[in-house]
Amino acid sequence: MSHFQVLVNPWNPCTFVPKLRLVNIYFHDTPADSPKRCMEPTAAYALESLIGAAQKQSLKIAGISGFRSVKRQQEIFFQSLQTNGTKHTRSYIALPGYSEHHTGLAMDVSSKQCHYELEVCFEQTKEFAWLQEHSACFGFILRYPKNKENITGYHYEPWHYRYVGIPLAKLLTSRQLTLEEYLQNCIDN
Ligand code: DAL
Ligand code: ZN
Repeated sequence: MSHFQVLVNPWNPCTFVPKLRLVNIYFHDTPADSPKRCMEPTAAYALESLIGAAQKQSLKIAGISGFRSVKRQQEIFFQSLQTNGTKHTRSYIALPGYSEHHTGLAMDVSSKQCHYELEVCFEQTKEFAWLQEHSACFGFILRYPKNKENITGYHYEPWHYRYVGIPLAKLLTSRQLTLEEYLQNCIDN
């Protein structure tokens, strides 16, 4: 199995540290040397291509948060516990060590229309509609879709995209499958 298909979710921790490079796209409000701007090199190139193609249609998709260390996830998790409480935190924020952001294969994106927030309002934007149509052609899936919360372990996140490679992204998107469902089928068959 390619490491682009790795499963990291509430039941499967991330067990490796990826190679990383800066992603050359627009980031909103992110210091130039922040690890948030980094991804695994193949995923970084794919995201640059995806966002470049959107830009040709006058759509500006902003990077918000890519790679995260376990330490950074710890800060985010405990900050959210204090601000939002346990229930909200457990449905939106991975436990340190269990975040897909540790793999370097995930990026949270947003756009000006929803004030560069990671909020459900992103699904109302032209940028989101374009991503729905085109992200699979560049190897990305919307990782936490609606109505799959029990399978992915997380609430719907229209902003979180995960690189899995083009063939698998096309398959999952066309069949409306999560990575969990696909990998479970592989085990069952
Ligand atoms: N928001 C996703 C689930 C994470 O914290 O990795
Ligand atoms: Zn995310």
